[in-house]
Amino acid sequence: MKDGHRKKLKAGVMGWPVSHSLSPILHSYWLSKYNIEGLYKAIPVHPDALEKSLCDLQNKFYRGVNLTVPHKESALGFVDKIDNYAKRIGAINTVVVEGSGVLVGSNTDAIGFIENLRDVVPIEVGSGWFGRPAVVLGAGGAARAVCVALMDCGIKEIRLVNRTLDRATELILEIEGMADISNIYKWDNRSDALSHAGLLVNTTTLGMAGQLPLNIDLTELPIDATVHDIVYTPLETDLLFKARQRGNHVVDGLGMLLHQARPGFRSWFGTDPIVTSELRQVVLASLSK
Ligand code: ATR
Repeated sequence: MKDGHRKKLKAGVMGWPVSHSLSPILHSYWLSKYNIEGLYKAIPVHPDALEKSLCDLQNKFYRGVNLTVPHKESALGFVDKIDNYAKRIGAINTVVVEGSGVLVGSNTDAIGFIENLRDVVPIEVGSGWFGRPAVVLGAGGAARAVCVALMDCGIKEIRLVNRTLDRATELILEIEGMADISNIYKWDNRSDALSHAGLLVNTTTLGMAGQLPLNIDLTELPIDATVHDIVYTPLETDLLFKARQRGNHVVDGLGMLLHQARPGFRSWFGTDPIVTSELRQVVLASLSK
């Protein structure tokens, strides 16, 4: 390996497949914006090769990686330390190689969700609209991150709505403290969950390009509630369109994606990057290609 290449600060994203990942675009944007001699690559890693690929990071002079589908859960078994968020959410999306070669796994989705929400709507912890119930649609990995974030913000009631009730029950039992503040609603009763809510978050794949639409009657949702869809293809989902038309404040999914990338960049490249409208435009342009 050439010395120049070795000196570059290196990071990347491991997934299978990985070509869909937007992470190289946004990290490369920040590297260039902050004049950092660094490299961020998409690294295709088959699930059978994940352990070895993580072990090899230090030898290959990598500062760390992001993890995407299908590695987020399995990586829990292949790192040396796990941060509190990763433990509570049950998944890792960021790995940092410490000086000694120790691999530290963390989950930045909860931070990304809340930092983005904070950017667009004022959050008064435990009071105001945030003092009202929050409705979370879905019970997958993204829902876990959103629930952890909401708990940490002092939300007093989370209404969890999922097609598969067992999965919602599992989520509530596995995240410490969730059972005390949660109610589960059947998917067919999703509209009933909306009354008096201050926040509605869609974490399901419904409404995403190529997936089924998300059908939900918003009549019961207060007009001053915020509606957040973590889907970002399309940027304005049908849910957000309907919510905006009736006067609700809406938050799209791109901001969460951008904010969750910040802690990794800070650890690998030593600069705390900012999410700007220019970055949004760069990522949006790549989505429309
Ligand atoms: P992620 O880890 O990104 O959250 P996931 O674990 O695949 O992805 O979760 C997808 C979510 O979308 C789940 O809550 C799923 O509901 P089930 O737990 O019942 O599978 C939800 N979802 C997907 N297709 C759905 C559909 N047709 N109707 C209702 N919910 C659906």
